[in-house]
Amino acid sequence: MRIGIFGSGMIGGTLARLWLGAGHEVRFGARDPERTRRKARSIDARAGVSDLAATAEWGEALLLAIPLHATPEVGAAISAGARGKPVLDAGNAIPRRDGPVAAEAVQNGSGSWVAGYLPGAHVVKAFNTVYFKTIAGEAHREGEKVGVPLAGNDERALALAEQLVRDAGLEPVRIGRLAESGRLDFGSPVWNTGMTVREIKRTLGLT
Ligand SMILES: NC(=O)c1ccc[n+]([C@@H]2O[C@H](COP(=O)([O-])OP(=O)(O)OC[C@H]3O[C@@H](n4cnc5c(N)ncnc54)[C@H](OP(=O)(O)O)[C@@H]3O)[C@@H](O)[C@H]2O)c1
Repeated sequence: MRIGIFGSGMIGGTLARLWLGAGHEVRFGARDPERTRRKARSIDARAGVSDLAATAEWGEALLLAIPLHATPEVGAAISAGARGKPVLDAGNAIPRRDGPVAAEAVQNGSGSWVAGYLPGAHVVKAFNTVYFKTIAGEAHREGEKVGVPLAGNDERALALAEQLVRDAGLEPVRIGRLAESGRLDFGSPVWNTGMTVREIKRTLGLT
C-alpha cells in the first residue's frame, strides 16, 4: 500500500520504518521537502518525500503525525487529496505545546476536531496513545502485543487501520466512533501506558 505520512518526527519516523519493513511504500509529506529529504535518508533510505499536497494525492492511506496545532495549516494543504481516503490521526492535544487550540480540540474528542479540517476524508484516531519508544522497542514482540485503540466512523477505514496496526507489529482494538476519541486523548486512562488490548478493554469497560 502507498502510505503518505505527514510529520517525519518521532512517531511518523517510527511508523515509516515499520511499514517499510512490512513491504509498504512510504512517502513523507513535508512543508520543506528538501530539508525533509535529508532527514528521511536517516530514517530509512526507502522513504520518499514530496510536498504536502502531492503526498496526499499519492497516498492510498494517510497518517497525520504532526503537532495538533498544525492541523488547520496541513489540513488546508492536503484536504483535496485526502478526500475519500482513510486518514489515521495520531495527534494529541497537549496544552503546553498546542496552546489554546488544545482545549478547543478535545471538546468533542480531538479526532472529530481534526476531521473538521478534512471534509470527506475517513478519519480514524490511531496510535496517539502509544509512546514512540514503546512502538519502536516492542513492535512484533512475542505474546500479547502492545494495544492500539482506534476510534472511527467508516468501516473500510477502520479495517485498513487495523491492518496497518498489525503490520506495525501491534494489536488494534476498536473503541467506538470518532466522537468517542476523547476516551483516547492526552491524559485519558489508556494514554501513554503501553497497555495490551486486554488491559485497554478492561480500562475502558469494553466487552
Ligand atoms: N512522540 C510520541 O511518542 C508520540 C506518540 C503518539 C502520538 N504522538 C503525537 O503525534 C504528533 C507528532 O508527534 P512527534 O512526537 O512525532 O513530533 P515531532 O517529533 O516534533 O515531529 C513533528 C513533525 O511534524 C511536522 N510539522 C510540525 N509543524 C508542521 C506544520 N505546520 N506543517 C507541516 N508539518 C509540520 C514536523 O516537520 P518539520 O520537519 O518540517 O519540522 C515534524 O516532522 C503529535 O500530535 C504527538 O502528540 C506522539
